[in-house]
Amino acid sequence: MMNAREHEAQHLLKVYGQLPIEPTHAKGVYLTYESRQILDLYGGHAVAALGYGHPDMLKTLNEQAQTLFFQSNAVAMEVRAEAADALADFAPAGLNHVFFANSGAEVNENALRLACKLTGRSRVAAIKHGFHGRTAAAGAVSWGARDKWYGFPNTPFEVDFIDRNVLADVTDKVSYETAAVILELVQGLAGGFDLNSAFIHAIADACADKGALLIVDEVQTGMGRCGQAFATDLYNIKPDILTVAKSIAGGFPCAALIVTDAIASEIGPGDLGSTFGGGPLACALVKTVIDVIERDQLMRNVRVLSGYIEENCPVGPVDRLQGKGFLLGLKCRRPAIEVRNELLDRNILVGTSTDPHVIRLLPPLITEEKHFTRLIESLAELPEI
Ligand SMILES: Cc1ncc(COP(=O)(O)O)c(C=O)c1O
Repeated sequence: MMNAREHEAQHLLKVYGQLPIEPTHAKGVYLTYESRQILDLYGGHAVAALGYGHPDMLKTLNEQAQTLFFQSNAVAMEVRAEAADALADFAPAGLNHVFFANSGAEVNENALRLACKLTGRSRVAAIKHGFHGRTAAAGAVSWGARDKWYGFPNTPFEVDFIDRNVLADVTDKVSYETAAVILELVQGLAGGFDLNSAFIHAIADACADKGALLIVDEVQTGMGRCGQAFATDLYNIKPDILTVAKSIAGGFPCAALIVTDAIASEIGPGDLGSTFGGGPLACALVKTVIDVIERDQLMRNVRVLSGYIEENCPVGPVDRLQGKGFLLGLKCRRPAIEVRNELLDRNILVGTSTDPHVIRLLPPLITEEKHFTRLIESLAELPEI
């Protein structure tokens, strides 16, 4: 009999490098594959904020599916209004207006398009090693995309890539021609690489000085992952546009763009749109995810346990840590892929990153100390070099 990977290969484009596991069930922080129970510290690329099969999510999904499965934005719905209320409350101060879409790339695409439209400018600055998605504008600002997969003959605007943590480069690259700077405060795919506070503030200041919009991509860092509702809350900056996806509905496709009053006042009918964005199932789940994060004090859990990992994790092949909260890069002395595979042999799933020496942790926010203890003990068993 074919396994799922062979079966997929029959009619799916072979665009993904896949792990040697084929989970069929999942509950809490565990994936079931045949007789194996695999501790998932990768959370489906930061999506499974509440883990798997969370009772509140299942209840919400079931109730909403039975009440109103789908209607588009052609009609107003209380469930959408409540999701937007919850998200605007959860978002950093000053970001009060929400547009729902379906993926991180889609909200970044819209954020960049709005920036060009509202400023009338045609350059965008981004940060080297950042990732923002696989559409025309989001891909244009994703480091390395044009060499690897982009494919379009031109980008929609000129792009200036800024060296990470180099203040002088901010001054060079952010000008009166810059429509926006887009950045991840902690670069996810790059391995949980934290941009430093001085650099982040230099960017925010340059945007304010030059009249460029500040777009903070919180697709990976948002929804409590960094120990606050959004990573923005860690830096005392004021984005004009914040984008969020992945964890926002805990595994149901959803994304949002959140803007200030000033930006909202310049947006009108027809400027943004989506058939599925703001659908009732996604919206009901957005509210549930936020409610559970707050009710169960999951951001506190992230803060406490990330401290525990930071204290105990430089162990075995791990030399040092980077990142924030539950978006952590473990810098290894050995190739990350080897460490990832050895952990998977021990039934612990972690991710890799574009840094060949960094394994990435993106665990569900419900992960407990005992789970990290198991990771630490397993790392201690692995060869150091
Ligand atoms: C920071 C960041 N922005 C944008 C994206 C794109 O999101 P999506 O895959 O939902 O389009 C990702 C996906 O990994 C991401 O990590």
